Amino acid sequence: MHAKQPIGVFDSGVGGLTVAKAIKTLLPQEDIIYFGDTKNLPYGEKSPMAIKSYAQNISRFLLELNCKAIVIACNTATANALQEVQDLVGNKALVFDVIQPIAQTVAQGPGRNVGLIATKATVNSGVYKRSIQAINPNIAVHELATPLLVPVIEEGFSKHLIAQTVIGTYLSQPALANIDSLILGCTHYPLLADEIAAFYQNKITVIDSPNIVAQHMAKVLAEKGLLQSENHQAVYHFYLSDITENFQNIAKKFFGNQLTLELKIL
Ligand code: DGL
Repeated sequence: MHAKQPIGVFDSGVGGLTVAKAIKTLLPQEDIIYFGDTKNLPYGEKSPMAIKSYAQNISRFLLELNCKAIVIACNTATANALQEVQDLVGNKALVFDVIQPIAQTVAQGPGRNVGLIATKATVNSGVYKRSIQAINPNIAVHELATPLLVPVIEEGFSKHLIAQTVIGTYLSQPALANIDSLILGCTHYPLLADEIAAFYQNKITVIDSPNIVAQHMAKVLAEKGLLQSENHQAVYHFYLSDITENFQNIAKKFFGNQLTLELKIL
């Protein structure tokens, strides 16, 4: 592993772009290779076996492209395939996930009644509750699967009345009554952060997952001497297993015109 290698980031679709953007903001000199598995989304509705196989195929591909780090920018893939990705990658690259850094932050934070919204496959795994309570058993974690949010975002309806209605319906469920903070346990959901904050009128803390993940990764890369030199002009390459207009729009919004987009079926 050396500092000049790119960072690989993957998700089922546009969600991981929230993490990739946080990495770009914090580490603008790093090359990023992104894989969006749009052909197979939503991961949240798939079986653990299917999710493991998608995550392994993508990780193998990112290793072939010589990535020094693989960021599983997907809670559903982290919850269901982290061990498999770690086994496959071994010591060829560093593996980062989007759940452990959040669990650490939440377990040490002030919240005692923490809400979690995520895909069905993430909630069913129970990983968030287990990881948070393993560090701090005094925190209650109130989980709710919110499967309609990913299609709303992938279809480009984030700023539409549909989004507000779906958010309002989910967040009013009894499972989330009396929470003091909320984890957006799907990397797609920060794309609805404003709408979610508006629902709560800023009365609860919404955890900024992409930033926490990027900061954790930057710290580890720095400790290992794996940060790209600061005067390097970063390149961004996006692979998609199915090219969608919404992905192109959001990628351009986050990365400007510096990006290359390519269809890749694994
Ligand atoms: N963005 C993903 C996550 O963090 C998965 C969404 C999906 O494909 O269901 O869980």
